[in-house]
Amino acid sequence: MLTARIAVLVSGGGTNLQALLDAQSRRELKSGSIALAVADRAGIGAIARAEKAGIACRTIVRREPGFEEKVLSAFRECGIDMAVLAGFLGILSADFIRAFGRPILNIHPALIPSFCGKGFYGLGVHRAALDYGVKVTGATVHLVNEVPDGGKILLQKAVDVLPGDTPEILQKRVMEQAEWVILPQAAELVAAQIVREKE
Ligand code: GAR
Repeated sequence: MLTARIAVLVSGGGTNLQALLDAQSRRELKSGSIALAVADRAGIGAIARAEKAGIACRTIVRREPGFEEKVLSAFRECGIDMAVLAGFLGILSADFIRAFGRPILNIHPALIPSFCGKGFYGLGVHRAALDYGVKVTGATVHLVNEVPDGGKILLQKAVDVLPGDTPEILQKRVMEQAEWVILPQAAELVAAQIVREKE
């Protein structure tokens, strides 16, 4: 069956990459196949997850010159149709987005437009939500454009903030109840659209 070839960009533990891999095994992600993982630094947990799943994995260090050119050429070599930022903590340039010219999805651990944009990533997002005192937070999957966290929203899921939450506890709940659910769903939606266009 024709599938969209997916590249996943990662910077950390890779639990969102794992959610995509698991969804692929369960055939919930069926219009897309994960063809490549790109880790932006060495030694991160996401690399071990990709290797265990038998996915091609490249480490391309974000802080070294030519990062985006190297990622683009890896995408071209692997015939990538769409990319997913799954806990990728860099910001891709407008030039990169234009040159790739295909859909790029991002998962953000809050309900955009709250607690998003430059400087909001990882645990800091949950710390900001707790400091503000919101009673509901969640996760958002959106298309990537030149504005950090500013592209069209594809899916969102709300999660309750509970008394006694720490950033760590809230992060875990948002991951389990929202991120790992909506990221594979959004990847399937976009992959299915790509397959329809290819047919
Ligand atoms: C996830 O919570 C993801 O939403 C967040 O980083 C974490 C990565 O975890 N991403 C951002 O904050 C992007 N702005 P993971 O490596 O286990 O998937």
